[in-house]
Amino acid sequence: MAGMDTHGVGSRTDLSYGPRTARLYEPFMAAVTLGRYRSFVAAEVTRLDLRPSDRVLDLCCGTGIVVRELARRLGPRGEVIGVDSSEAMLEEAARRGTVRRFRGRAGAGLTAGGRVTYIRAPAECLPLPDDLFDWVTIFLGLHEIGRAARLPALGEVRRVLRPGGRGLILDFATGGSRLRRGALRLFLSALEGPDAGTICEPGVPALVSEAGLRPDRPRPVFMGLLEVTGFEKP
Ligand SMILES: C[S@@+](CC[C@H](N)C(=O)[O-])C[C@H]1O[C@@H](n2cnc3c(N)ncnc32)[C@H](O)[C@@H]1O
Repeated sequence: MAGMDTHGVGSRTDLSYGPRTARLYEPFMAAVTLGRYRSFVAAEVTRLDLRPSDRVLDLCCGTGIVVRELARRLGPRGEVIGVDSSEAMLEEAARRGTVRRFRGRAGAGLTAGGRVTYIRAPAECLPLPDDLFDWVTIFLGLHEIGRAARLPALGEVRRVLRPGGRGLILDFATGGSRLRRGALRLFLSALEGPDAGTICEPGVPALVSEAGLRPDRPRPVFMGLLEVTGFEKP
């Protein structure tokens, strides 16, 4: 998103999310996806095959759209940790809370869903122990991590996932012809700065493999503009 102010920590000094952008983020996502982003997230989280007591890391969690959905799917012994480098996005996440997303009686969500913790940290340096998580999700975050920090960030994902743990990355679809990749690179560079466009090189599955994780074949979503890449820690 263009025109953001600098409030983050970590590698992203050129592009970050300040309070105004944080407040507008969810309405913006709803507008650009014609209201489909939240239901899309809900459907993807449903596909994850979570166990009620699983522990999940949502990296680049932003205002917590994915965190809230994960928490809703877990049982009271489950846990979600949302990590983001932007203080403003995390404040907005806390403001939106978890209870209001639960349908039904007010407060029911807290007892039916998993615990939620938000931590401010750069993805490439996670203040979390090894082998802690059953799942890691990164929705629309990888292309925003500075180019040089992407592989270290995926290295951190590998470190904090338990062996056999799984994950899911949603990001721009980086396959296809050279023309398509060039157009996407221009589009992302114009929208989010030159580093974002470099997600095309070498692309999400190649980065995931380089980090020592085993990627699935990417699945196109949103008319092929985005793709979902599942992966496993061997
Ligand atoms: C487009 S938002 C996506 C938010 C959320 N995952 C969603 O699907 O709505 C990208 C988020 O990545 C965060 N981010 C970017 N670079 C980061 C880094 N190096 N470490 C941690 N968070 C980062 C930004 O602060 C922002 O909140």
